[in-house]
Amino acid sequence: MAVVSTSLKSAPEDLPEAWHQERRSVSVLGSTGSIGCNTVDLLARNPDAFSVEVLTGNRNVKLLAEQAVRLKAKRAVVADESLYGELKSLLSGTNIACAAGEDAIIEAGAHPSDILVAAIVGTAGLKPTLEGARRGALVALANKETLVSAGALMTQEVKNGGATLIPVDSEHSAIFQVFDFERVQAVSKITLTASGGPFREKSLDEMQAMTPEQAVAHPNWDMGAKISVDSATMMNKGLEMIEAFHLFPVPSEAIEVLVHPQSVIHSMVSYVDGSVLAQLGTPDMRTPIAFALAWPKRMSAPSETLSLADIGTLTFEAPDTVRFPALRLARECLQTGGAAPTVMNAANEVAVAAFLGRKIGFLDIARVVEKVLDEGGLEPLSDLDAVFAIDAEARLRAAAVIDRL
Ligand SMILES: NC(=O)c1ccc[n+]([C@@H]2O[C@H](COP(=O)([O-])OP(=O)(O)OC[C@H]3O[C@@H](n4cnc5c(N)ncnc54)[C@H](OP(=O)(O)O)[C@@H]3O)[C@@H](O)[C@H]2O)c1
Repeated sequence: MAVVSTSLKSAPEDLPEAWHQERRSVSVLGSTGSIGCNTVDLLARNPDAFSVEVLTGNRNVKLLAEQAVRLKAKRAVVADESLYGELKSLLSGTNIACAAGEDAIIEAGAHPSDILVAAIVGTAGLKPTLEGARRGALVALANKETLVSAGALMTQEVKNGGATLIPVDSEHSAIFQVFDFERVQAVSKITLTASGGPFREKSLDEMQAMTPEQAVAHPNWDMGAKISVDSATMMNKGLEMIEAFHLFPVPSEAIEVLVHPQSVIHSMVSYVDGSVLAQLGTPDMRTPIAFALAWPKRMSAPSETLSLADIGTLTFEAPDTVRFPALRLARECLQTGGAAPTVMNAANEVAVAAFLGRKIGFLDIARVVEKVLDEGGLEPLSDLDAVFAIDAEARLRAAAVIDRL
């Protein structure tokens, strides 16, 4: 069994000097998204604890400009170059610098800050997140696709750059909080909990007819469209299995998924003596974001207090890989390794976009991913250029599969 070494640091004494400062500087990649807005909310509530360097968005310049003014950011960056003029005029009269384009987003990752919150959705976040890793930032990682697509290479860059990865995904934040990094051999299993998404109780026939509106209506979490669809197919949990493999030093066989519809237990770690440690909380992303921003300390978050007495019952069930084949595909990709997760992630991004654009049905998402994986091209990844090339090729293949459906 292959055991990966962790890229996470567990001891506060390992922290870079800047980390001991009272006021930490933060940049947020994807500040206009769901994770981004939750991060902005926490930063706005704690102006004495955080200063803000750079905020980035893709197209939502109005919100980006509002956030930059509210947080007194030094710079605002929009990915879509055609919106540069609009951003500049929205920020005229302030001393907030503006920039636009993909290179400016990458530079936002490279710009000095103690913390880089990586909350762009999809592989678009890979290059700027890598810049944060290379300059030794504390990377608060929400953008799971970067670890799925380029896991081993990304964690190597984290080590080379002396960076620290703190997971923002609620499941991985939970595991991080109860994982004994000093006694890795004592860990027997990691259990990622899954809500099961909006279609947990739907039959395959019912799922075939599901619309984008129904897929994004998650029962517990309020999230961006792509991750909401991933939750509905359960590809999200598949991505998280691969993410967990790269974050925690356990073999792939020791990572399991358990459906827990109430989303109260965010994940668990089992130990060889039979103990199982879990982290619980109400489903509010501000809790894991606050954990990452304040680590290794704690800061208060406005999340609702958990009342188990009010909830009364917590339930659990095994995942159904027949109705949710994305989970099986992700498990196979994790075991195959090499470029398999990169191809799966790229094909999934294209298929989800096609579903949201009403070009394919809900069940076609996993079909497209499986067909692209069946075409092969899953050889080991030599370097990051290979990741980008394989990602681009898998996107073209996925588009071709969609055209043939
Ligand atoms: N939402 C959650 O609760 C949650 C929980 C765990 C993990 N995550 C992960 O966190 C990441 C973000 O999720 P989200 O739900 O916050 O997504 P989201 O609401 O769709 O936000 C995505 C952000 O990325 C920006 N963006 C999109 N395409 C871009 C591009 N090509 N270049 C630069 N920026 C781009 C968007 O800008 P615009 O707003 O201008 O489009 C927005 O700021 C995902 O990887 C997701 O899996 C999310």
